[in-house]
Amino acid sequence: MTDSIPVITLDGPAASGKGTIAARVADALGFYYLDSGALYRIATLNALSKGIDLDDADALTASAEKLEPVFDGDRILLEGRDVTTAIRAEEVSAATSRVAAVLGVRAALFALQKNAARLSGLVADGRDMGTVVFPDAPLKIFMTATAAVRAERRYRQLLARGAAADLAVLTVDLEERDRRDRQRAEAPLKPADDARILDTSDMGIDEVVQTVIAWWKDVGLKGL
Ligand code: DC
Repeated sequence: MTDSIPVITLDGPAASGKGTIAARVADALGFYYLDSGALYRIATLNALSKGIDLDDADALTASAEKLEPVFDGDRILLEGRDVTTAIRAEEVSAATSRVAAVLGVRAALFALQKNAARLSGLVADGRDMGTVVFPDAPLKIFMTATAAVRAERRYRQLLARGAAADLAVLTVDLEERDRRDRQRAEAPLKPADDARILDTSDMGIDEVVQTVIAWWKDVGLKGL
């Protein structure tokens, strides 16, 4: 079903700027934007708020299977509660890389991600969009930036939101999360064999957006 739907996958490590780029590209092309990380964050927040032990894979899986998040424009609702901001808290970020390593949780969220495909097109942002969820996507991108650049971006983002932030702590947390995402047995963070690598360390947002759109046109010209 998704084979005939135009899909761009955008994978990469935490704070690589994927979310901003994916949303901008989706907007420019009139595609739907799937933030798969938000689903893992919602599963984690739900588990934390219900007091589920993060080492209990069965309980985490059972609660993920029951998730029914509602995406209402820019807002995310869970059981009627607006969790848009809560899922971005640093403690949720840290716990999410543990929850995302659980096979049952990944299986439970797989269908939600597949169902996000829209006829108009999809930009799917995550860690395993090109390798596992949309392996037939005509354009797969693996977006990177050095850990120092990513920590600095996250730091500025938090300050802009008025949140407290410590650059050294953020850098250590990011590296730890990357390590967990890369080394896990299930759907580890890695480029698909046919992914194009995009190192954004020295690029501005507009330049990255234009590069992705140019690549999409290039793929289209080759016979979409
Ligand atoms: O992109 P993000 O920072 O919102 O992702 C949060 C966590 O979820 C991160 O630890 C990696 C994990 N994740 C995943 O395992 N698979 C995805 N497709 C997306 C995110």
